[in-house]
Amino acid sequence: TITTCIFDLDGVIVDTAVYHYKAWRQMANELGFDFSELQNEKLKGVSRIDSLRLILSWGNVVKEEEEIQVLAKHKNDAYLAMIEQMTPENLLPGAHDFLVAAKEKGYKVVLGSASKNAKLILDKTGVLPLFDAIVDGNIVTASKPDPQVFLKGAELVNERPQHCVVFEDAEAGIEAAKRAGMHTVGIGSAEILHGADILVSGLNKITIADIQSI
Ligand code: G6P
Ligand code: MG
Repeated sequence: TITTCIFDLDGVIVDTAVYHYKAWRQMANELGFDFSELQNEKLKGVSRIDSLRLILSWGNVVKEEEEIQVLAKHKNDAYLAMIEQMTPENLLPGAHDFLVAAKEKGYKVVLGSASKNAKLILDKTGVLPLFDAIVDGNIVTASKPDPQVFLKGAELVNERPQHCVVFEDAEAGIEAAKRAGMHTVGIGSAEILHGADILVSGLNKITIADIQSI
């Protein structure tokens, strides 16, 4: 039986994936190159610094470590300016109701995100109090597809992996959840998330009752 729902943040609860893409693209353009939406899929679930290294490699741009840190900060400042404006209206369709239903049914609600901005975003969108535990980029040392982020989440609420279901929009995130030995709900398209146990286009397309039948 499933007792615990572990949610990715970007692209599952909020649509910040588009802000990340916008901010990274702006940086790449300033460096004289561009990258595609398909390449952007590879950045989902990947930490800020690992994302930056990947993007620079796509543009064949080599930078000193010091400058890499400057670029990461520059991107995050642009991203922060975008999320500063967020309100509960920026929750993805169905996200609020699904979180509330999960809590009401007695599920443990956990966040498993690579983002260092996770708490700020949950706070801005008003859902922070619904979480029993938060694992974010300030705690995690190994990026998805490493299962660390989800195993840590299960540990914080004293649950075993087989009792957890992970909600993910990233290819790397589904892989991380599977490596952790957890059930998976993919949020997005079949081409990218083929490994998921269940696939839906959003949290508005699934009910907490569907979770019991996994
Ligand atoms: C999430 C997103 C990634 C992002 C990462 C770090 O996993 O899917 O695109 O790079 O968080 O986010 P941060 O807010 O710390 O830069
Ligand atoms: Mg995501």
